[in-house]
Amino acid sequence: MVKKNSELKKIIIDCDPGHDDAIALLLAIKADNLEILGVTTVAGNSELHNTTRNARKILDYAGYPDIDVYSGCDRPMQRELFRLTGAIIHGEDGLGGPMLPPPVTPVKAEHAVDYLIRTLRDTEDRIILIVTGPMTNIAAAMEKAPDIKDNIDKIIVMGGAIFEPGNITSAAEFNIYVDPEAAKIVFGSGCELFLVSLDVTMKAMFFEEDIETLRNQGHKISVVVASLLDFFAETHVKHFGFKACPIHDALCVGILIEENLIEFKKTFVDVALHDPLTVGETVADLWGITGNMANCHIAMRVDREKFVRMICEHMKK
Ligand code: BDR
Ligand code: CA
Repeated sequence: MVKKNSELKKIIIDCDPGHDDAIALLLAIKADNLEILGVTTVAGNSELHNTTRNARKILDYAGYPDIDVYSGCDRPMQRELFRLTGAIIHGEDGLGGPMLPPPVTPVKAEHAVDYLIRTLRDTEDRIILIVTGPMTNIAAAMEKAPDIKDNIDKIIVMGGAIFEPGNITSAAEFNIYVDPEAAKIVFGSGCELFLVSLDVTMKAMFFEEDIETLRNQGHKISVVVASLLDFFAETHVKHFGFKACPIHDALCVGILIEENLIEFKKTFVDVALHDPLTVGETVADLWGITGNMANCHIAMRVDREKFVRMICEHMKK
């Protein structure tokens, strides 16, 4: 079932499923123009054993046992794993809601970091990395094998908040907050970097009627996605006080399907590391004041209607 064709964009998805990670995986599977080379998992929304199992569970359920899953780092580079919000938002096992059957396909034995290095070294085509969890695996691979950067076409990251407040502290977005040292390495890597931040993900929400549209499509995948979003919407009510779902991570895949889904602006971005008040904050030099070279395309605007249509159409394929 793995799509293979020289025309397809080759991607690796590094994730911590997580409801929105799961939907990002499903969107990538269903996209006609993408070939998933592999899926790597990291600790984030839940412990590593849960995020790995959830990735495998989703792929098996969708009928893609031949997409390999590699389990990666079980904790951030220099900190303890921060779990509180992950559990509140995504449930105890990271994927609360629908009772999906347990996965049957084994996870690969190779560590995700070694898989990333091997694949990026062996490839004839440049590869796109989609990173929808803390950036621990990617940063660890770059530290261990800096040469792999040459074969990275671009890195599309869900993370950060430039204009919006954070969602885990007032300043920081969850993925960056969990492993800010890893994020700093990736921001400083010199790779082409696209930051799909809360600035757009919070403006591309799924509301109750969008979830109903998915459910009414009656397809095996869209019904499960609707039920994932039911759970996600409820936890957003409890934790944030609004009943809607930002499917953050799927937007990273979305821009590979329709380039103009998000409008970007290139600027210099760095990550705060030390002050407890700001740790994990993504700080952008919007006016070019610092003289630092622009290292990141930051997300400015998103077409919500287009995104909702894209998800609904792909989930019934
Ligand atoms: C990010 O944090 C996680 O909870 C989501 O999966 C997403 O990647 C949003 O801040
Ligand atoms: Ca995620």
